[in-house]
Formats: sequence, C-alpha cells, structure tokens
Amino acid sequence: MVWTPPAEDIFRRSEQWHVRIRGLHKTFGQHQVLRGVDLDIARGKINVIIGGSGQGKSVIIKHIIGLLKPDRGHIVVDGEDIVPMSEYQLNRVRRKFGMLFQYAALFDSLTVEENILFPLIEHGLRGPGHNDGVRRRMSRAEMRQVALEQMDKLRLPHVLLRKFPSELSGGQRKRVGLARALVLRPEILLYDEPTTGLDPVATKNVDDMIRDISQREGVTSVVISHDMASTFRIGDRVSMLYEGRIVESGTPDEIRRSRHRYLRLFVETSGTVQLDPVPDSELVDGDGPGEAPR
Ligand SMILES: Nc1ncnc2c1ncn2[C@@H]1O[C@H](COP(=O)(O)OP(=O)(O)OP(=O)(O)O)[C@@H](O)[C@H]1O
Ligand SMILES: [Mg+2]
Repeated sequence: MVWTPPAEDIFRRSEQWHVRIRGLHKTFGQHQVLRGVDLDIARGKINVIIGGSGQGKSVIIKHIIGLLKPDRGHIVVDGEDIVPMSEYQLNRVRRKFGMLFQYAALFDSLTVEENILFPLIEHGLRGPGHNDGVRRRMSRAEMRQVALEQMDKLRLPHVLLRKFPSELSGGQRKRVGLARALVLRPEILLYDEPTTGLDPVATKNVDDMIRDISQREGVTSVVISHDMASTFRIGDRVSMLYEGRIVESGTPDEIRRSRHRYLRLFVETSGTVQLDPVPDSELVDGDGPGEAPR
C-alpha cells in the first residue's frame, strides 16, 4: 500500500469520502505541529487516527470543526472547503458535527439532563434533526423525551438524569458526553481519546458503543486513539500521524502489513496487536508514506 492522495477533484462532494484534508500546515510559535497532512475520512465508516502524544491529533480534529485555522491547506467537508469560511458560515457546517472531547468536558454545575440537552438549548431549542431552518421552541415534555431517548440509546439508567457529572463513573461520563454529542443528530462524530483512563472492560464497552452508534445511525466517525487493541477492534480505516504528516492510512489488514518502521514500533510496543512480519531490510523510515508488501 502506497498511500498517495487520489488525484481526483477534492472540491466535489464524494460518496466515498466525507472529509478530505490536503496539505494542512499549522505552527504554534516556533513549533511546527502539522507539516502537510493529507487525510481522507471515509463516509459512514470508523476512521481511527493514531500517533504519539503531542503529535497533533487533537489539533487535526480542531481543524476539522473549524476551531483552529490552518496556516495553509484545505479541509473539505462534503465538497466545501471550510478554511476560507467566516465564523457565520462555519456555524452552519459545524451543525454536521458532534464532538466527544478528550476529557468528556461535561459542565460540572449542570445535571446530566441539562448537559445532554445543552446543544438543543444553544441551537435555539430546535428539535433534533430539524435542519430545515425552522426554529421552534420545544416544550419541557418534548425536551425530557429527547433526554430519555438519549439515555436509552446509550444504555444509561434514567435515574442518572438528576445527578451531576462528579457523581458518575468515568465510563458513564463518556456515555453522557456521547449522548450530548448525538442530540443534534450529527452526520460526523469526532471522538478525541474516548477510552483514556478507562479500564479494559469499560474500554471494550465504549468501543461497542462507538460501533453500535456507527452502525445504527450510519454516521461517519473519526476516533483518536492511544489504544491499539481498541483501534484494531473498531477501525474500518486507520491512519498514523507522525512528525506532522499522515505516514500510513488503510484498513487494519493493510496497516498490519506496513513497512513503516516507526508505525511498527508504535503498534508493537502496545503488546496487544500482532503485525505481519516484514524483513528488516524492507522497512522504511521517515515521514513519507510507507510501503506495505502486497
Ligand atoms: N492552542 C495551542 N497553542 C499552542 N500550542 C498548541 C495549541 N494546541 C496544541 N498545541 C501544541 O501542539 C502540539 C500537538 O498537540 P495535540 O494536543 O494535538 O497533541 P495530541 O497528538 O492530541 O497529543 P495527546 O495524545 O497527548 O492528546 C503540542 O505540542 C501542543 O502543545
Ligand atoms: Mg490529544
């Protein structure tokens, strides 16, 4: 697998690719974090981004929802380049996204119910999935119904609705964060390290939940993960960020055949995923795409 971005027109809506990133550069002060990221996000699939701490994974995700502006490059969502967009235009595109932040980021002073309903209130009390631009107030009973549905969807007991985030377990907090991310029925769900700090069983539960949501809602998922077992369990596609670029991108099977030295080290060090053997003489270094034997 030599992963070179396809030469086709990226500024056209594609059935296969939901988000297309080309030549993304971002520097903070003296620190060049992204040095030409090329990445395609497959529509309706689970796309996992792996890479070492501080490599810029969260920075990529923040660019995808327009929270950060790149120094240069393109981020094309459904055929629209969001880089030149104004804040006003971005807000329209942002409605396509649901985000589960790295530390779940619930509002501590709000109850679980208020947390889950927060996006509805923020977006002008619009009913979920009403992208027709018609604003209408939802009644208290309707809102409560939405909260209950979200709880069921995430298999959370209803009694938790009145609790505060500090009273929940880590796994429950992630679920509530996801319930909140889903409330506006996003087309694209972004998960930043959804299993960090969870034990193996809770990790497996969150993985199942991501798979479940992906299949049931048909959403496109982008997952940043440190956890290799989880990456290979849920990923339809896996991409590795290394030294500011995507050095490898493919199905888990393709990634298992990677010749990229650092990728192999990174995945094998986890001790949970076995790669296909590749002779040492065939390994490639550096930040270009590696080449896996066919
Ligand atoms: N707003 C910012 N201002 C300055 N530097 C930033 C900013 N955001 C990120 N960085 C820097 O960019 C680099 C990449 O950060 P990022 O959070 O994307 O890493 P990451 O790959 O998500 O790491 P981790 O796995 O630890 O979450 C870091 O060195 C970080 O300090
Ligand atoms: Mg991060």
